[in-house]
Amino acid sequence: MPSLLITGAKLADGTTTDLFIADGVLADPGSAPAGVERIDADGLIAIPGLVDPHTHLRQPGREDAETVDTGTAAAARGGFTCVHAMANLTPVTDTAEAAEFVQSLGERDGHCEVRVVGAVTKGLDGEELSELGLMANSRANVRVFSDDGRCVADSLVMRRALTYVKSFDGVIAQHSQDPRLAGPTACCHESEWSGKLGLPGWPSQAESIIVARDVQLAELTDSRIHVCHVSTAESVEVIRWAKKRGIKVTAEATPHHLLLDTPLVAGYDTTFKVNPPLRTSEHLEAIREALADGTIDMVGTDHAPHARQDKDHPFDVALPGMIGLEQALAVVMEVMVNTGRMDWPTLVERMSFAPARLGHTPTQGRPLAIGEPANVTLVDPSARATVDAEQSRSRARNNPYHGRELPDPVMATIWAGKVTYRR
Ligand code: NCD
Ligand code: ZN
Repeated sequence: MPSLLITGAKLADGTTTDLFIADGVLADPGSAPAGVERIDADGLIAIPGLVDPHTHLRQPGREDAETVDTGTAAAARGGFTCVHAMANLTPVTDTAEAAEFVQSLGERDGHCEVRVVGAVTKGLDGEELSELGLMANSRANVRVFSDDGRCVADSLVMRRALTYVKSFDGVIAQHSQDPRLAGPTACCHESEWSGKLGLPGWPSQAESIIVARDVQLAELTDSRIHVCHVSTAESVEVIRWAKKRGIKVTAEATPHHLLLDTPLVAGYDTTFKVNPPLRTSEHLEAIREALADGTIDMVGTDHAPHARQDKDHPFDVALPGMIGLEQALAVVMEVMVNTGRMDWPTLVERMSFAPARLGHTPTQGRPLAIGEPANVTLVDPSARATVDAEQSRSRARNNPYHGRELPDPVMATIWAGKVTYRR
């Protein structure tokens, strides 16, 4: 593996340093041989590689929408050195064999580390627990379990899942959606907008009711719950309350729920159809504040690639989901850093350290210090560009930022000492 010397990079804390990468780890820059390959990082910020707790890679099953190769290439371009591959695949990742298969795909085709997420219930049916222990003990070493795309709606099933994963310090990542209050057709934040547009409403309480139940089940079982894609002010209040009580709850916010709001669906462009739906500005404000103060621990992209034919339908029929890996850092910078709400050390905590801790991934979310794994993202804090959905490493084109001017920060991504993206 070739060595690499990065000179004059600023770290998140503002200090300037050289980084010497040899044999996949950070080594003493004083030991770099003359003539080693160099990257001049003058004016750039070096941060630990980003970690996404919530990615849909679609392989196996929907390789026409995304593959491990294309999805992780998009991740590398977005500055990520690790993604968590959600279990709503075909077949569902609900056995040790299925988990090891996704693990092998990651090892073979990944442009970043792929951590396997296991399903909570068999076939995501919400009824019978899947092979949680066998997945945990498998070569995939699964620690995060989720039926994402569906809510584990049955309280007793949820209680049992939380109890079970406690024995190996696993965590249940919940897609919080009361299926009675927000059924399969619900597709627009319930508000004056859903009424005006004639779209089935998805009330914010359909999320917070489940969050309120789950944090109490986490308290009852003394186990860990993670709330996926928090989208409402009410959920934020519940999580704040639970944390104050000492309940083991973590939460993620997506880039799109930080930036994009309900009125965008007024043109019935299905690119903006996502679950949970885009909310109104008061909710966006609450999510931003919670991400700044740590009530929301981390950013999760919920990168959800779809083939064109699955989006090319009337709004209420099209599949929900939008891609997000390539613009995640740009959106967090735009909404949080460039507005003065968040500093760089906090961004690193929310986009690298916290998501690496979620599933106990030892090689990720580490400081840029000698002896640590060489997972580095080089950022130009001032570059900007207009997003072009066609210029994507993802196979999918459902990019909600198309045509928007945003930061264009990622200059290079280095994963385990290998350059996985460079521009
Ligand atoms: C996700 C998908 O397409 O798999 N869709 C979405 O709208 N977010 C599932 C999910 O995260 O709920
Ligand atoms: Zn989800």
